[in-house]
Amino acid sequence: MTPPLIQIKNLKKYFSYKGQTLRAVDDISFDIFPQETLGLVGESGCGKTALARALMRLYEPTSGDILFKGESILCYKGKAIKSLRHDMQYIFQDPYASLNPRMTAGEIIAEPLNIHNVLNPSDRQKRVQELLELVGLRPEYVRRFPHEFSGGQRQRIGIARALALNPRLIVCDEPIAALDVSIQAQIVNLLKYLQEEMGLTYLFISHDLAMVKYLSTRVAVMYLGHLMELAPSHDLYDKPLHPYTQGLLSAIPIPDPLIEKKRTCILLTGEVPSPINPPKGCVFCTRCPKAEKICFEKRPTLREISSGHQVSCHLVTP
Ligand SMILES: Nc1ncnc2c1ncn2[C@@H]1O[C@H](COP(=O)(O)OP(=O)(O)OP(=O)(O)O)[C@@H](O)[C@H]1O
Ligand SMILES: [Mg+2]
Repeated sequence: MTPPLIQIKNLKKYFSYKGQTLRAVDDISFDIFPQETLGLVGESGCGKTALARALMRLYEPTSGDILFKGESILCYKGKAIKSLRHDMQYIFQDPYASLNPRMTAGEIIAEPLNIHNVLNPSDRQKRVQELLELVGLRPEYVRRFPHEFSGGQRQRIGIARALALNPRLIVCDEPIAALDVSIQAQIVNLLKYLQEEMGLTYLFISHDLAMVKYLSTRVAVMYLGHLMELAPSHDLYDKPLHPYTQGLLSAIPIPDPLIEKKRTCILLTGEVPSPINPPKGCVFCTRCPKAEKICFEKRPTLREISSGHQVSCHLVTP
């Protein structure tokens, strides 16, 4: 088996919030394999962005470890953290807020090359042209400013900038959420094309379960700072094991009438508890339609139920 590109081990990211501890990411472990797309889903506030930012060392993790190609990146300091940007890049949700309005598209895309002092100035210009072409933008756009582009085009600029240093991993944090539905598919198809072309690995964060299904090799489901389930995409969508995943999926109708008929509809009722004061046992117990005594008392751990299918639930048996 191919060794993982990224190994996340018992990662925690706690914030201090009004004098209290907010457990945004609470003891999460998983691997990301080369050239896969790992989808990460879960309701707003469950810690997806905190996890992604801790992974990239944009946030300092509270504890745990992150390995890139088998080497811990948590002991990296200064220059070494900077060098991580060659390997890992981030595409943001909002293509409006993430581009500097006073810089031209060319300057924005060249910025990582300048910061990291890659290539000489004339080769940088060539590289910028190459990158524009790669993401489907015309070469003359190089002198335009962000406000002269549509939302989809701006996201293409963000993608070109992320690709400039030839990274291995790209974290896509809701990259299409701010775009018109008609543009979303274009950006997703561009990401797919780039992955094949450049052998990229993606961590793809999204609320859009249908899009995640379309793009992902495997999918991880997060709830209140914890991983609830992780499985190959087809497994997770055909046979979700965790009551939370079942609830999330039952909110999207399935176009296939045969599957639709078999589907059990579980409604997610009640409020998500606060990550400042999470439930004692399973973090989902307060909303789980199947919860039993043990669920309120003991925190389940993520375990493998069938090949590659991991779930964190006391009630699921192999
Ligand atoms: N800098 C911060 N300081 C304090 N609390 C934070 C900070 N960033 C995030 N949080 C809290 O951490 C928890 C997880 O937030 P996060 O942004 O990771 O959620 P998310 O899953 O990305 O949500 P969304 O889908 O809305 O983007 C939330 O309770 C949030 O309020
Ligand atoms: Mg987020």
